[in-house]
Amino acid sequence: MAGLIPRYFIDDLLARVDIVDVIDARVPLKKAGANHKACCPFHNEKTPSFTVSQTKQFYHCFGCGAHGTAVNFLMEYDNLEFPEAIEELARTLGLEVPREESAGQQQQRRQSADLYDLMQQASLHYQSELKRHSQAIDYLKQRGLSGSTAKDYGIGFVPESWDYLIKRLGKNDRTQQQLESAGMLIRNDSGRIYDRFRNRIMFPIRDPRGKTIAFGGRVMGEGEPKYLNSPETPIFHKGRELYGLYEAKRHNKTLEKIVVVEGYMDVVMLAQHGVRYAVASLGTACTADHIQRLFRLVDDVLFCFDGDRAGRDAAWRALNNCLPALQNGKQVRFLFLPEGEDPDSMVQSEGKEAFEQRLAQQSQPLSEYLIDRLKAQCDTQSIDGISRYAALAKPLLEQIQADTFKRLLTEELARAVQRPVDQLFGQGGLNAPPPTQGNTTQKKPPKAQLSITPPRLVIAALLAQPSLAQTVTDEDLALVASLDERAVPFILELFQLLQQHPQLNTAALLDRYRDTPFDSALMELASYEFQAADKIAIEFQDAFSNLLKRARKQRRQTLIQRPLSTLSDAEKSFLKQFKD
Ligand code: UTP
Ligand code: MN
Repeated sequence: MAGLIPRYFIDDLLARVDIVDVIDARVPLKKAGANHKACCPFHNEKTPSFTVSQTKQFYHCFGCGAHGTAVNFLMEYDNLEFPEAIEELARTLGLEVPREESAGQQQQRRQSADLYDLMQQASLHYQSELKRHSQAIDYLKQRGLSGSTAKDYGIGFVPESWDYLIKRLGKNDRTQQQLESAGMLIRNDSGRIYDRFRNRIMFPIRDPRGKTIAFGGRVMGEGEPKYLNSPETPIFHKGRELYGLYEAKRHNKTLEKIVVVEGYMDVVMLAQHGVRYAVASLGTACTADHIQRLFRLVDDVLFCFDGDRAGRDAAWRALNNCLPALQNGKQVRFLFLPEGEDPDSMVQSEGKEAFEQRLAQQSQPLSEYLIDRLKAQCDTQSIDGISRYAALAKPLLEQIQADTFKRLLTEELARAVQRPVDQLFGQGGLNAPPPTQGNTTQKKPPKAQLSITPPRLVIAALLAQPSLAQTVTDEDLALVASLDERAVPFILELFQLLQQHPQLNTAALLDRYRDTPFDSALMELASYEFQAADKIAIEFQDAFSNLLKRARKQRRQTLIQRPLSTLSDAEKSFLKQFKD
């Protein structure tokens, strides 16, 4: 675990980056009045409803409700984790991200940095070897691979040698140990150390930032194992990574769908033929983690499997792993290729258009595939068979959290065997929750705006123009503090925070509440549109006065209920001053 990024750094970073530059580099923006606009990258639209405010350092889409800061944008659009998004913003400003870390953590991070560096160097060596070995070039040519695709994917070659990498990168004990922990060298029982990969075509596996973290190495021609892969290392966790994801993102400004295939060569060949949105899980079934990653990027995920038994088994495993990660509004489909074919052979023989047509027309929705598969295992003409069918379906349904999808699938399962839901799954199905609006991150219908009460308006104004926090007196704040109202403690906290840290802008302020219970409500309020940028202060004053007025009224009511003799002078003068 890397250490925490210090708060002061995030504040400062968010004060220095400009969200307009960050977004414009990815989604070209047009100036429109005080804001910038574009067609929303998070849903399909023809007229721009995606707005970026430079003053607020905030984006908001009126179409789908997507919103957030530059950090949120990078997390969503570039599919980054929070620390990666911070690293990326820092990089554009040429800053190094400091870490609050223990000596151990610091050492670990340095070690990871060294590993990334070694993997990058190894990859460059392999790529240059490919140019020198005609036998490797011939192998790839014979498989139909072009030089430019090989270059795009960083494909290389490692010659037959026990110490190819040792000689180049592992000259001392320290680097040998590092190469060993990166999975590039193996130490045998007698302590002899040697190269893991020898005489193989090398496919670098890159993380979403493009850093090489592992390799898959293929024998040329026959030989076992056909593919040798890097083991799990401190920088490579194969249950998380997807081969080709970095390249797919790099070639598509906006990805709409992703095809998940089985092999390295499938990804590479599809890309060469123009299907540049394929990824492969790395010799394992697609995990829930993988699916989550994909759903953060796209709404449509299509699994494409070979038509053989292994392909069908892999598909069923993928389906099982998908269920917990499903979200309302996201689509998963399955395509089985004819026996003996894989995407590589298919796209080479029929070309891009036919292949894409096949994807579109011959793939099955997850629900249909699931039902077919269950029906094939039961005799649905008999009572025994039906009860078996329900018993098989039940644990699958129970894994699904997406309520709408679960309800529809339950109904579909019942319809497929012409039985009522109650009969199969008991009264009320599987405690099917009442119909609610789906919680998808994309294509969601615009949310009803939070109704704007004075306390919320105060918060919205502080978010839009944090300097307003300096315009109120301590006395007024103390009075508001006495107001018995749900939002008051939070409002006070916000004032205090902004008075202590007057340099915070909207984005930095929002970032303070990342992953807290206030996160999404604050994001909503930050999207609130004021009548005019120069009227924010006025609206703030009105709303704040409203709070003060109510606080006075409340205070007055408490005071007049007390015997006059128990009131202090200050309390008496309060009553005198504010008569109504
Ligand atoms: P396939 O055997 O279907 O490979 O394995 P492929 O991609 O079609 O390979 P080519 O076309 O013969 O070169 C699919 C995936 O399973 C993993 C690899 O990730 C491979 O791409 N695999 C396969 C291994 O990890 N090791 C193996 O020995 C075989
Ligand atoms: Mn193949």
